[in-house]
Amino acid sequence: MNFKNTLLSISVLAASTMSANIANAAEVEVLHWWTSGGEAKSISVLKDMVQVEGHVWKDFAVAGGGGENAKTVLRSRVVSGNPPTSAQIKGLEIQEWGELGFLADLSSVAKANKWDAILPSVVSDVMKYEGKYVAAPVNVHRVNWMWANPEVFKKAGVEIPTTLPELWMAADKIKAAGFTAIAHGGQPWQDLTTFESIVLAVGGAEFFDQAFVKHDPKALSSATMVKAFDEFRKVNQYLDNGFSGRDWNVATSMVIKGEAAMQFMGDWAKGEFTAAGKMPGKDYECLAFPGTEGEFTFNIDSLAMFKQKDSKKEAAQNVMAQLVLSEKFQDVFNMNKGSIPARTDQDMSGFDSCAKASMNTFKQTASMKKGLVPSMAHGMSTTAAIQGAISDVVTEFFNSDMSSKEAVEKLARSVKAEM
Ligand code: GAL
Repeated sequence: MNFKNTLLSISVLAASTMSANIANAAEVEVLHWWTSGGEAKSISVLKDMVQVEGHVWKDFAVAGGGGENAKTVLRSRVVSGNPPTSAQIKGLEIQEWGELGFLADLSSVAKANKWDAILPSVVSDVMKYEGKYVAAPVNVHRVNWMWANPEVFKKAGVEIPTTLPELWMAADKIKAAGFTAIAHGGQPWQDLTTFESIVLAVGGAEFFDQAFVKHDPKALSSATMVKAFDEFRKVNQYLDNGFSGRDWNVATSMVIKGEAAMQFMGDWAKGEFTAAGKMPGKDYECLAFPGTEGEFTFNIDSLAMFKQKDSKKEAAQNVMAQLVLSEKFQDVFNMNKGSIPARTDQDMSGFDSCAKASMNTFKQTASMKKGLVPSMAHGMSTTAAIQGAISDVVTEFFNSDMSSKEAVEKLARSVKAEM
């Protein structure tokens, strides 16, 4: 074949592959709430990969940490008969959407790509409705973290705390040194995030399970729960004046800039440190929330696909689901997001020390069946209705002078009403 003919056949081939791509191209509209610096960087990894496959990404980002706004928008879109192609739906809500019959069956992709073998059951169980995969997990977040600025601790002359008594002692000194001890955003889901870590520290994993998974009225109204509210009450005195309504990533930036000493937040906060070019062990420290070392509150993000009439869209959904579980995506996405891969067979050598520690604790607690609990604040342990009932009590308590005893009574009553 001469040069001219070679060129000709290459261009014919290129044209035919391209037209194949164009012919099969579908628009995938993806609803999520990943709008902070680290989050946006993470989701753009999937956007790029989907586009390389020839599909068109339609970003449907609804701002609001924790996803309350996004969930409301999702419901109204589905009710009006116009669901997105895919949405970040997680935890028990996957079951609720599955029951309503809206979710697409991903069994064939899952089977072809051996999801049952590459995912630990604690992850795959959440992704299935009636034994069939209806969602693809992008990661595993650990919620019970504390993010600390070592410089601020140094200036205040205190060590970074590992227990609750040490925490309050350190917070006093940091406050006296003129810094904000705890960077917090006063939004219900952030209050709940801190509260559940305190419950874990005070009562341990078994108690957490009794209260927030099994909803045992005895646990909910116990002296341990009263103690947890007592400890939670202490947080207020270490906040700055501007905490009310603050977004979580703004609170993280206070720690990054050295205005505040620490933040209690899941490891999506690490995505903000990473996006700001900060290094763990040097610019910041990641430690388990004081008193919860060796325990792991998990929060798994996942993308569910909505049933489609258009077969091209269905094909694109399968491509996307496959990409989500690919090693490349799990690697790059999670390095940006702060989480660890959902696949436990993944090579962790490129990850930072916080992610490695997280993966170790995840595997250890899973294999010992001890210390691994589903996050209540992030929809992993209970229905949206019960979570909402708990959240209302926690936030009301935090912003009033309600006594711990009163809070506990209200908690037990409200949970019972939603069961
Ligand atoms: C959580 C979600 C995380 C993170 C966080 C803040 O609910 O699982 O991925 O984005 O909200 O928006």
